[in-house]
Amino acid sequence: MQDPHWWRQAAVYQIYPRSFADSNGDGIGDLRGITSRIPYLKSLGIDAVWLSPFYPSALADGGYDVDDYRDVDPKLGTLADFDEMIAALHQAGIKLIADIVPNHTSDRHAWFQEALASQKGSAARDRYIFRDGKGPDGDEPPSDWDSVFGGPAWERTEDGQWYLHIFAREQPDLNWDNREVRDDFLKTLRFWSDRGVDGFRVDVAHALTKDMTEPLPSKAELGPEGENNNGQHPFWDRDEVHEVFAEWREVFDEYTPPRTAVAEAWVHTDRRARYASPEGLGQAFNFDLLRADWNPGQFRDIITKNLTEAASSGASSTWVFSNHDVVRHATRYGFPLAGSESTPTETARDWLMSGGTEPDLDHELGERRARAVTQLMLALPGSAYLYQGEELGLHEVAEIIDEDRQDPTFFRNTGVDVGRDGCRVPLPWTKAGESFGFGIGGSHLPQPAWFSDYAVQVQESDSHSHLSFYRRALKLRRELQGDEDFEWIEERSPEVLHFTRLGGWHCVTNFSSGPVDLPAGRVVVLSSSPLVDGRLPSNTTAWLA
Ligand code: NOJ
Repeated sequence: MQDPHWWRQAAVYQIYPRSFADSNGDGIGDLRGITSRIPYLKSLGIDAVWLSPFYPSALADGGYDVDDYRDVDPKLGTLADFDEMIAALHQAGIKLIADIVPNHTSDRHAWFQEALASQKGSAARDRYIFRDGKGPDGDEPPSDWDSVFGGPAWERTEDGQWYLHIFAREQPDLNWDNREVRDDFLKTLRFWSDRGVDGFRVDVAHALTKDMTEPLPSKAELGPEGENNNGQHPFWDRDEVHEVFAEWREVFDEYTPPRTAVAEAWVHTDRRARYASPEGLGQAFNFDLLRADWNPGQFRDIITKNLTEAASSGASSTWVFSNHDVVRHATRYGFPLAGSESTPTETARDWLMSGGTEPDLDHELGERRARAVTQLMLALPGSAYLYQGEELGLHEVAEIIDEDRQDPTFFRNTGVDVGRDGCRVPLPWTKAGESFGFGIGGSHLPQPAWFSDYAVQVQESDSHSHLSFYRRALKLRRELQGDEDFEWIEERSPEVLHFTRLGGWHCVTNFSSGPVDLPAGRVVVLSSSPLVDGRLPSNTTAWLA
């Protein structure tokens, strides 16, 4: 009998499939590439893989523009390859969480093509959000809303109507008031669940349902974009979205063990619990640590608040420092933030945009702090989400020339935002050779020369490497983990964070600039950097048992 609660404290490793491992030498990572690296995943000690979209896609947004929800992108393989991959993962004791993208299809999806070929007001158009434009000829968009990736959120079609896309123009938003849309997604959830998928990561879960009652409010009436909308915004975080997820829950519960889900919902912390409720998706991402400075007060508040909030929903908390949308955390913590008023993520993007490269970046400090915060995260109750390459201490790739960039946020914000390609560069597996072992046919995003030093092969033979540290930490986490209990232990200095889990697992992180004493009478079982004369140096976490 499989444990229905396996997800509550799982270590989940995100694979961005096009950049993980390429089995057929076409420069793009694929499912067989993943299958070939399962021994690596097993040796890392993770519980589950979260696989970013692998569906047929023109890659207008890295696969988050889906042509067909119930197939595999031919560039990545076939359904048979998928079946082989999931069987091998399960054989290795690793679960699979599939990314699902319900807010929008791609503009190549059969439904959207049918909508374009159909009349105004037709059933085909009702699956999306089509509106007439404003102005005498209808040539002004129905509202002045901006898309998340920059530029207007409406695109005009040949017959003069406009459709809504809150992301790229190749990602038309679905109409979740349409029963056929809802039913088709239930079919998709069953399709992958029947194939053995253990859970789903739900893309922009907070945007599905929309209030498109006319007149549509203007940007000025909506006020600044934020996460304090309290259900009033026309498309962010509306209360009706939970009716959709209640239906999904019924499908999840048809399976044994029930399929799990985690919401990507950028909502106010106070409104997150509804997404994570057992009647809904069951768990929701908390991105608060991902936006935290190297600041013990911020860490402490975020941890306390999220543990309380998770408890109120009945879910476990989630923790994440890196994913395919943000500057890698080794880099965020490795360049000067002094005087900055933005979060490290925003500041890091600005820094990259201004041409910031090597000299500004303290690689060693970034990696040291990244290890320290990761070790802290791995001791917290709840699920830890890791992003491919962070186990190698990889930094953001800053030096990508414009011609090589792929991310729509770069193209829709020319000169303002470099976009997210820097964290999506294919992984280095070997010290040398074609694309550092990613594949024999090059790499769809160019890899910098410094990737050589970070390659898996190099780190596997070094017991002090970032990778060796991750392996030890994940193994120990399994051994030490008990219930989801947690207690702060007060330290003399507010710059030292110390908490314990029942059973005597202590975690101490030193955010100060000098070494501190560790609690007496316990044995240090892991430290993110070597102790100095038995003391915990700055920028370091230790576990004691
Ligand atoms: C969130 C995904 O993480 C991101 O990569 C994507 O661009 C948007 N959703 C739109 O699907």
